[in-house]
Amino acid sequence: MSGGMPSPTRIFQIGCAFRASKVLLSAIELDVFTVLSEQPLDIAALIRRVGIQERGARDFFDTLVGLEILRRSDDGLYTNGSEAEFYLDRRKPTYVGSLFEQYNAIGYSLWNSLTQALRTGAPQVGEAPEDHFADTYGDPVRMLTFVKSMTAGSLLAAKAIAAQFPWQDYQTVIDVGTAEGCLPVEVALAHPHIRGGGFDLPQLRDAFNTYIEEHGLTGRLQFYPGNFFETALPAADVIVFGRILHNWDLETRRTLLSKGYDAVRDGGAVIVYETLIPEDRRSSTAGMLASLNMLLWTVGGSDFTGAQCAEWMQEAGFREIRIEPLTTEESMVIAKK
Ligand SMILES: C[S@@+](CC[C@H](N)C(=O)[O-])C[C@H]1O[C@@H](n2cnc3c(N)ncnc32)[C@H](O)[C@@H]1O
Repeated sequence: MSGGMPSPTRIFQIGCAFRASKVLLSAIELDVFTVLSEQPLDIAALIRRVGIQERGARDFFDTLVGLEILRRSDDGLYTNGSEAEFYLDRRKPTYVGSLFEQYNAIGYSLWNSLTQALRTGAPQVGEAPEDHFADTYGDPVRMLTFVKSMTAGSLLAAKAIAAQFPWQDYQTVIDVGTAEGCLPVEVALAHPHIRGGGFDLPQLRDAFNTYIEEHGLTGRLQFYPGNFFETALPAADVIVFGRILHNWDLETRRTLLSKGYDAVRDGGAVIVYETLIPEDRRSSTAGMLASLNMLLWTVGGSDFTGAQCAEWMQEAGFREIRIEPLTTEESMVIAKK
């Protein structure tokens, strides 16, 4: 801009980002990408298949074209872009849309309370947020939406952990707070010698067993029901805490890591994976945004840096701590006993 004035472009882009975000969330809700994975469609056919009115349709679909999520040919046929085809077709095992279904159903409106959460320091999910898991699991539909969103949110990190961690040096794994078991499934699929399973609240037994069966791993992976505040964790060579520590306050994180230490066999390892906050607290915003999400959802939760996690691990007794990136946004902190 002339006259030495800074350009306001980025302010407008960030301030309007919610619009583009909601277009993607609505497209997932309407199953646009599953429909288009069957065949290319012109606008009239696409309108019919996803069940919307003509008025907003062209702007809606062409926004997705402009965002490079959809493609439109010169003769007006819409198709999925390569990312949408791979990750947003509901029938593919690589579908991650369940995470965005959860954002669409709850997260999007919850973030409207951010100012209130900042003013009060209190979560914005109702009266007793720490009972959130019990509440969610009391309703079978909410439970399924939740566990599917967990799998969608951890699938890429789980695949990376399966590929990167030296599983050949270990025999057993227990994933603490496993939801439907995404992490142990990815590890067991990639490493046929690995046995173990997932530990979680008893209400998740059926969801876990169904997911294990769908992947042909019944017998190799087991569900360990329990409340990690009340019982010891099952013993294993490798104990994993995936997106668990950020739900709780500092004291609870220390308690969980200490229980993890007791459960890891001598010579074994612990893995914590999260969207870590960078040490400089500026080079990427994903960890800080994830942490604000914990402000909205929990009483004491927050995200943290790799160095903070390493310090808690060391206090718990672990050694040889190292941090490895997994996906663009997630990393794992590994330590040995
Ligand atoms: C944020 S989810 C993470 C799920 C999974 N690890 C992932 O990354 O997708 C937290 C998990 O911790 C489990 N959890 C919460 N409180 C628990 C408790 N007291 N004992 C055992 N598991 C618990 C929840 O049921 C849920 O599956």
